[in-house]
Amino acid sequence: MHINIAVLGGDGIGPEVVTQSIKCLRSVEETFGHSFTFKKAIIGAEAIEKNGNPLPDETLKICKDSDAVLFGAIGSPKYDGNPRAKIWPEQGLLRLRKELGLFANIRPVKVFPTLVRQSPLAKRIVKNTDLVIYRELSGGIYYGEKTNNEDDLVATDICTYTEKEISRITHLAFKAAKARRKKLTLVDKANVLATSRLWRRIVFEIGKSYPEVALEALFIDNAAVQMILNPTQFDVILTDNMFGDILSDQGSVIAGSIGLLPSASVGAEHAMFEPIHGSYPDAKDKNIANPVASILSVAMLLQHFKLNEESDAVVAAVLKSFSKKIVTPDIMGSSKYGTNYVGDFIADNIMEIDDHFNMNDENIGLGKSTII
Ligand code: IPM
Ligand code: MN
Repeated sequence: MHINIAVLGGDGIGPEVVTQSIKCLRSVEETFGHSFTFKKAIIGAEAIEKNGNPLPDETLKICKDSDAVLFGAIGSPKYDGNPRAKIWPEQGLLRLRKELGLFANIRPVKVFPTLVRQSPLAKRIVKNTDLVIYRELSGGIYYGEKTNNEDDLVATDICTYTEKEISRITHLAFKAAKARRKKLTLVDKANVLATSRLWRRIVFEIGKSYPEVALEALFIDNAAVQMILNPTQFDVILTDNMFGDILSDQGSVIAGSIGLLPSASVGAEHAMFEPIHGSYPDAKDKNIANPVASILSVAMLLQHFKLNEESDAVVAAVLKSFSKKIVTPDIMGSSKYGTNYVGDFIADNIMEIDDHFNMNDENIGLGKSTII
């Protein structure tokens, strides 16, 4: 298969983790006989410096012309510290999501058995966690009208949702639940917000056409508590843009490191794959960033194109790195392995499932599609 991939490394550790993902895709190409092309483009702080625009037209065009976008990270301390700035890096990502019509952000939170002790939460709580968050990505308070009054002492962010925006992601979430453990939890704040009350009405109405899926609703404050107390109760979580942003970062604590969680953002015509972590500027170019979240995003990319065996091979190589303790220091403080070494190890161990058996390599959870 031929896949045209736009590569947007972005800010901070973004470019270095994406470099490891490209190595893995090269390895998939070679092992399974595909052809991938990569076209790099700038976004975020670098694009503001060079272009005055966090999403230059040329970058947008490259993304629109691609089959998939591989995204690194965005955000820079230079702008975070200046709330009066008129232009800042994150605007580039937000506009890109909107322009590409990426309305569903899929964020799996899975505790890998070899890493169960990494979480600061008790092993008995996090063990066997396997949930996926369906976060609405192109509406809500992120995109509503924003105002500042003249003396700059009052500001507003409007939160708007339409029936269409809610129903298209709701159908995706129900379909995912149907193929998994058949439970869907809507997370909202319907005791306060008009938008949440609209979500409830629409989701419960759509739920009638998925009778095999058990549907429940939780308020966001309670959901935040439940997720830490008993994460295994969740299968698919469906929520809006803002709540999904917060809940998915919280999910990374369950998994043991924010450096582990991938995501896929999909729409009717485009798809983008990115770690859930931020740009971690303190780690930039220190060769300590964990490339796994980006590499698992590659596994999601392959699955998106129905290359399931290839996706499983990437996950198997990641699991092998865990079992051999070839991990970055966020996973094991004493580790001497850096971003590059871990990336090389995973790329070198991407092989056909049969070859794994021939190598008698501890049966790394083979054949199971492990991340989605
Ligand atoms: C994420 C990030 C972004 C978001 C930021 C960088 C705009 O936190 O992808 O979760 O809030 O969506
Ligand atoms: Mn976030």
